[in-house]
Amino acid sequence: MSSQHNNRHFVAYGVAGALGLAYFYWKNQDKKRKDGNATAMFSDAEFEELITYCNQPATQIALAKNQESQKCIYLDYNGTTPIYPPVVAAMLPYFCTHFGNPSSGHHYGKEPKRAIEEARKTMLTSCLGVDPGSVDTSAIWFTGCGTESDNLAIQLALQSTEHQFKEGTNKPHMVCTNVEHPAIAVCLQALEKSGRIDVTYVPVETDGCVKADDVQAAMTENTVLVTIMLANNESGALQPVKETAQECRKRGILFHTDAAQAVGKVSCRLDDLGNPDMVSIVGHKIGAPKGIAALYVRPKCCEENGRTLSHSHGILLLGGGQEFGRRGGTENTPYMVGLATAASLATENLEKNAKHMEEMRNRLLSQLETKLNEAGIQCRVNGPDDPKKRLPNTLSVGLPNVHSGDLLAEISDKVAASAGAACHSAGGISQILRAMKVPEEFARGTLRLTVGPYTTPADIDRAAEFIAEAAIEQTQSDTI
Ligand SMILES: Cc1ncc(COP(=O)(O)O)c(C=O)c1O
Repeated sequence: MSSQHNNRHFVAYGVAGALGLAYFYWKNQDKKRKDGNATAMFSDAEFEELITYCNQPATQIALAKNQESQKCIYLDYNGTTPIYPPVVAAMLPYFCTHFGNPSSGHHYGKEPKRAIEEARKTMLTSCLGVDPGSVDTSAIWFTGCGTESDNLAIQLALQSTEHQFKEGTNKPHMVCTNVEHPAIAVCLQALEKSGRIDVTYVPVETDGCVKADDVQAAMTENTVLVTIMLANNESGALQPVKETAQECRKRGILFHTDAAQAVGKVSCRLDDLGNPDMVSIVGHKIGAPKGIAALYVRPKCCEENGRTLSHSHGILLLGGGQEFGRRGGTENTPYMVGLATAASLATENLEKNAKHMEEMRNRLLSQLETKLNEAGIQCRVNGPDDPKKRLPNTLSVGLPNVHSGDLLAEISDKVAASAGAACHSAGGISQILRAMKVPEEFARGTLRLTVGPYTTPADIDRAAEFIAEAAIEQTQSDTI
């Protein structure tokens, strides 16, 4: 079966499933209303209107266009993922039937409130492997994006320890790697610039991994936070989180890991991560929508070793006291349900998906190598040689005498991929590749190709063809 067919089926099943579920819920609710024991907000006529809307040519065209866009092979799963059909299905009732404000004391508040509590439990027991017997749901803080989760971790460390430092004598110190996502790096740089903290950016080795010993050597008596990403978004390099988390716990220092790229690709069980204090999880990397994320915060970790949070209401957002008084703003119930559904699916299918993605990633590399080597073009893989130290879905590959920005622009209707973070036609080279000391000629020609659970062998074969053809064409012309 062609990838186009597969993709069409994927979209068609998703849309059909979502509509079917909406219909089921609406009808069920309507039946209950007629039975006199429910509170349907929509009449049959309104429901028919929804169906009519879905069947309108304009809506159909929108869906068809979506199918059309599937012709462009999607190899940018580290950028974002589609919303997976079961996630859409789980979210739908909370847009329609259970739309209430979870803080409302009346009927409409009850189901959203229950669903959010359930979502927190799922995040803990499924995604993070917490024993269901010892679940404390206040450990999950839902946020609006990965950036917010990362900023929040830094703020928690800062706000819970600032009182320990005397102005003018010493400052809180934080440690990270020099390949963190801007959600960490830019936040730390801003605090450093404003004079509130000192930061050590521990350099990675040429394979993109930091050494646990180097991180430990960077810790001082003023260190209040060590934050290290679990997996790098460009190279896929896995960082020594377990050892570092354990060392931090011994020293009484808060430890945070940004697991945005890791969930659904490698284990994110707290045990396997050395029981970190904080973990960022991001919806749109695992089949949930953009605009929802979470920060796991180990209960009481901000109250140990002299730490204390001076204000219990609002860390980033002051307001109505939601999220246990830490983040004001009415909860986004459907998205929270979507995140928990996506996280549990990613965890349940981890082994199967990781194996599939690794096969697809390896197939892509081997096809590119065969086609390009024949044409005298070398492929240089960025990241660790040892596959156990790399995300199974990520291929960062440098091609000499190729400009990746131009190449991707050339094939942008056929293959959707990225050139790392910032390798655009302006000629900038990604900070990550710089930190890994990738030779300039390969860095300029680096493609970040990331596959997902729905990538098919046919997708890979076509993509390899398009990429190789464009690369060969570029090296044979004099435009570089
Ligand atoms: C490792 C990592 N951390 C954080 C983020 C930020 O997530 P968001 O875009 O939801 O703010 C991303 C997104 O690209 C990421 O890859």
